[in-house]
Amino acid sequence: MLNIVIFGAPGSGKGTQSARLVEKYGLNHISTGDVLRAEIKNGTELGKTAKGYIDNGQLIPDALMIDILASVFDSFKDSKGVIFDGFPRTIAQADALKAMLAERNQEVSVMLDLEVPEDELMVRLIKRGQESGRADDNEETIKKRLAVYHNQTAPLIDWYKKDGKYSYIKGVGTMDGIFADICAVIDKL
Ligand code: AP5
Ligand code: MG
Repeated sequence: MLNIVIFGAPGSGKGTQSARLVEKYGLNHISTGDVLRAEIKNGTELGKTAKGYIDNGQLIPDALMIDILASVFDSFKDSKGVIFDGFPRTIAQADALKAMLAERNQEVSVMLDLEVPEDELMVRLIKRGQESGRADDNEETIKKRLAVYHNQTAPLIDWYKKDGKYSYIKGVGTMDGIFADICAVIDKL
């Protein structure tokens, strides 16, 4: 099974590239952000809890997120592989993912780090906010999300380097060009 962590700052293209990977390799896709937005839309208790964090650009507590991830993962039957988009985002989540996969005799195949400069991230997210109106795509919240990324999530780059799974992907350029670079890494696995 291919277990691909697609990693990067807010707006780095995780969702965009995941959609292409799903199509090309027939993988299942877990976007923890999408899961939480669906819960908010459906007005569930989890959604009510998540909304406060998301609107403020903060992370949902690890314990909650880890439970959600395991239950979505176990809902996939006869999977060829899974793309983890937006998870892990903390060291605790990376440890939990490793343990969860090990319990199922699996491991992360590769972590793809989509690197994009901050000014470009801001431009992309402001534009998306104007076009589609995701509640957290406004300048103030984007700044908080970027700060959370630097403080809590970016340390995972070293974590995955130590784990031998890290792969750098230049996240600037055409969507097709970036996808080709990603496929080149996956096809070598
Ligand atoms: P989440 O939904 O994961 O949001 P995010 O990480 O902030 O990232 P985005 O989804 O905004 O960006 P993306 O990298 O997917 O880029 P995209 O392809 O859309 O999380 C939202 C919130 O949920 C978090 O803040 C947190 O509160 C909570 N949460 C989620 N997971 C959690 C976890 N594990 N633990 C705790 N809390 C969690 O692209 C962005 C834009 O750029 C698009 O408009 C796209 O068209 C455009 N674009 C893409 N590629 C290119 C390109 N090459 N050139 C130009 N434009 C491009
Ligand atoms: Mg996304």
